[in-house]
Amino acid sequence: MTVRSERVDGTRQWLRGLEVFAGPLPEFDPAAAPAEPVRLFLSWLLEAVADGVRDPHAMTLSTVDSAGDPDARVLILKGVDGSGWQFAAHAFSPKGGQLACHPRAALTFYWPEHGRQVRIRGIVTPGSAEDNAADFLGRSRTARAESLLARQSQYLMDTAERDRALEKSLALIDKEPSLVDSAWTLYTLAPTEVEFWQAARSRIHTRLRYERTADGWDRFQLWS
Ligand SMILES: Cc1cc2nc3c(=O)[nH]c(=O)nc-3n(C[C@H](O)[C@H](O)[C@H](O)COP(=O)(O)O)c2cc1C
Repeated sequence: MTVRSERVDGTRQWLRGLEVFAGPLPEFDPAAAPAEPVRLFLSWLLEAVADGVRDPHAMTLSTVDSAGDPDARVLILKGVDGSGWQFAAHAFSPKGGQLACHPRAALTFYWPEHGRQVRIRGIVTPGSAEDNAADFLGRSRTARAESLLARQSQYLMDTAERDRALEKSLALIDKEPSLVDSAWTLYTLAPTEVEFWQAARSRIHTRLRYERTADGWDRFQLWS
């Protein structure tokens, strides 16, 4: 792809001209929203899947490190139910370390074709050894082999070294197919707040936030 120089020079102008919320956008009536945010989330996710939104189960996981600095990356949603939203990661990765020292996080979904965003904040707990192992064994052979190297996000100085290590790891898995990486973790984010945001062409967007109470959820509309 070539980038024309006038685009680089006039970036602001060019960005301003790009369309957002092209639509057609669905309606969202907060008065008809269910009492539990997980039910609304699942209905929005199902609609995204039905309408062919790409990677509808991809979400941004935001964490903070030991210095209080934010970090974020995209992960795949592994499950969602009354206990929370699940994702899987290596405990020795930067995000795993961040969650160990500060087990609070935020998840953000964006489904552009529907102009919909869902923001979830809450407390993160690691899964049981059994759940972690089941998730690990459901991964592809290469993904398991890579995980066993426990080097995610470290500097890669030599790709040949990586290829050799990966080959060894694959051989180990082929010898012992039930081998589990004990650092592979299925995390659950138990929500304290869930916000649903529906874009409108008019720019009068609709926002509904669920806030956890002792025995259920309160719901509030927010200014956009
Ligand atoms: C669509 C998509 C899905 C991803 N899914 C995962 C995932 O489920 N688990 C994971 O550890 N990394 C996943 N990644 C890679 C992460 O974004 C990230 O690069 C990696 O986990 C290292 O993050 P960290 O250095 O913050 O620990 C995914 C990336 C993309 C773009």
